[in-house]
Amino acid sequence: MHLNRMFCLLSAISLLLCVLGCLASCSDDDDDDSDNNVDDAANDDADDDVNDDSINDDVDDDANDDIDDDCVDDDTMGDDDSADDDDTGDDDDTGPSTVDCEPYGYGDAPNIIRGPYLQHVTKTTIRIMWQTDRDSNSVIRFGATEDLGFYQCDLEPVRKHEVEVEKLDADSSYYYSVRSDGAQSETNTFSTAPNEDSPFSFVVYGDNRTQPQEHALVVGGITAESPDLVLNVGDIIEDGWSFWQYDQQFFNQTGDLMKTTPFYVSIGNHEAESFFYYKLFSFPGNELWYSFDYGNSRFIALNSNWNYTQGSLQYNWFESQLQSAQADQLEWLFVYCHHPAWTEGGGGTEDMRTSIVPLMELYGVDAWFSGHVHDYERGELNGVTHVITGGGGASLSGWSHDIEFITVYESRHHFVKVEVTGTSATFSAIDPAGTVFDTFTLDH
Ligand SMILES: [Fe+2]
Repeated sequence: MHLNRMFCLLSAISLLLCVLGCLASCSDDDDDDSDNNVDDAANDDADDDVNDDSINDDVDDDANDDIDDDCVDDDTMGDDDSADDDDTGDDDDTGPSTVDCEPYGYGDAPNIIRGPYLQHVTKTTIRIMWQTDRDSNSVIRFGATEDLGFYQCDLEPVRKHEVEVEKLDADSSYYYSVRSDGAQSETNTFSTAPNEDSPFSFVVYGDNRTQPQEHALVVGGITAESPDLVLNVGDIIEDGWSFWQYDQQFFNQTGDLMKTTPFYVSIGNHEAESFFYYKLFSFPGNELWYSFDYGNSRFIALNSNWNYTQGSLQYNWFESQLQSAQADQLEWLFVYCHHPAWTEGGGGTEDMRTSIVPLMELYGVDAWFSGHVHDYERGELNGVTHVITGGGGASLSGWSHDIEFITVYESRHHFVKVEVTGTSATFSAIDPAGTVFDTFTLDH
């Protein structure tokens, strides 16, 4: 019995030592892995240092933020709370919403009294504005076919409606209709901005104020050309603080065109920096002056009512836009504003000749469009083509030929059409009857 007990005790001690030995061995293996992990992490860190890429970091951060946001939403709003979705119409992060954010009928709909009209457009977004005669919500239905099927909404009641449609495809055409508390527009079309290699056309004109019938004729000529964009160099009405004139001298003539064609204005002296002007249009940036890219081109709209001399806020912004256009390797640089530096029509703006004109020459602006003078003028100076296109409807100016570089001048109602195809841009000055009275091509 004693020997048996001794044997059992020795066996138990042996078993215990074996288990402890195994545990020690496993622990050593873990330590080895830990060491390897440390080494791997160190190597990863070294790799990260070598491959440090802020863009990738941003992507990672954004991804993490999305995850965090999802968690926060889940925690604070609950799955059933779709307040955000109701407001934006978003039900999908990858494409436009198919959810009708205002699916109910209304017995007493307001009237749409202006628009809809197209404003700032990019490859994936477009701003659409309209006005109703009482506060109401803003719903845009759109789609690749007349069945529409997608929605962009803002449910805050307003009279001046402005909605940016998002998640669009570049270089694509859409049907759209706007709706406010049951009031509904007819179906129109818009197109997103083209890719860099796609040809496009735009029209520039200005000084259409005061003579609505003449303006209507010019707009008829523009409409017949079916441009992708229209730019106006200002003085769209006689008195910017008379609200009724915006319809009488501008929207009544341009309304149909603006339903299908994005329309940009650079403010003239007659708009007088009016609150009404800034409420009626929607341009990018601070809206006083702005720029946008379209196809292979950058368009820069200056405000010649404001200070643009060297060192001013606008001068510095203008130079930054020219520099970034160079960095982005955009093919064409077009500038437009109301006042010209030189004109055969008398006057011109001395301050421009010592501030923004040297900038345009330094950074290779291709063409600068202006107005204020009610005629057509064209010339090239130090690589910049100067075009005055102030024949949009106002009474015409006379001229005296004393500016040497201005080689073409015509006192005629007109607009200028520019067709951009890669490294070639063809300019045509066209009167309301469709007669081309000046044409030239710039090639890079
Ligand atoms: Fe003017």
